Amino acid sequence: METEIVSIDHLDRAVSFLQEGTPIAFPTETVYGLGALISQEEAVKKIFSIKGRPSDNPLIVHVSSLDQALLLTSNLPPSFFSLANRFWPGPLTLVVCKDVQVSPLVSGGLPSIAIRMPSHPTARRLIERTGPLVAPSANLSGRPSPTTPFDVLEDLHGQIPLILDGGECEIGIESTVVNLMGDYPVLLRPGIIGKQEIELVLRQKVFDADKHSPIASPGMKYRHYAPRAKVSLVFNSQDLTGDYILSARPSIGMRLLTEQTLYAELRRADRYGIAEIQIDCTNDLKHNLALMNRILKAAGV
Ligand code: TXA
Ligand code: MG
Repeated sequence: METEIVSIDHLDRAVSFLQEGTPIAFPTETVYGLGALISQEEAVKKIFSIKGRPSDNPLIVHVSSLDQALLLTSNLPPSFFSLANRFWPGPLTLVVCKDVQVSPLVSGGLPSIAIRMPSHPTARRLIERTGPLVAPSANLSGRPSPTTPFDVLEDLHGQIPLILDGGECEIGIESTVVNLMGDYPVLLRPGIIGKQEIELVLRQKVFDADKHSPIASPGMKYRHYAPRAKVSLVFNSQDLTGDYILSARPSIGMRLLTEQTLYAELRRADRYGIAEIQIDCTNDLKHNLALMNRILKAAGV
């Protein structure tokens, strides 16, 4: 199968592929997603096999309206409406009770469903036409998430017919994930929308997920975001002597490290055949929960 990168002018083709059960990739404001219609079990299965994703790692459902979200869920708590109202469309995923009709394939057998409404105009136009799409990041499982159509091509070439081109993703790391199933909200994955912003809206403390708690996200147990190169955390700037250094405050010869550049840089290092990537662990970086979370996973810590 030839994989084509096409512009939004080819939206009709993307819609047709999805309707006939063939997954395609599309841009969101966070990272590129590999989409399938939530109603098509065979297409959902294809997503797991294309990515090489363990079947107990559930998928995020992407909607373009609150009505679509209401049809997929039940017993929604007030916190869902407060957060959706404030942050949707945008990079926040909410884990709530699923409707009985949602396939266990989507939820990895859990009673919950993860939902978000992306803000990227291409994603929104696509989902308005197709209805809710399940979409994990469009990378091979274990590789850094794709932030350009070329990253998707690198991982999924020959496995999908179409990649909708939305240019570089504005945010560059995956959405914040908050679990609203329990008595208190739990942050399952940090992102650009921070814990404090969520606490301000809910007027309630948000707890951090404990890897071992039953409420944690199945995705947390897998090594993620890893390039082939070794990723080393460097705490003393004198030890920054490698060929490939990422820094939030780069001096000459280093590369800029931000949420938007991290995954692109990890992939670039692999294309160059770099053996080791050094990360300059400045104080600012140590306090950036979302970015540090991805870096630790890339380093296999
Ligand atoms: O920004 C994003 O969220 C991107 C774009 C494409 O929207 N998507 C994304 O999907 O990052 P994925 O599949 O790579 O990550 C989904 C995460 C996983 O860690 C998964 O375990 C968790 O969400 N998740 C999904 N459903 C869940 C559920 N019912 N309960 C707990 N965690 C869930
Ligand atoms: Mg992913």
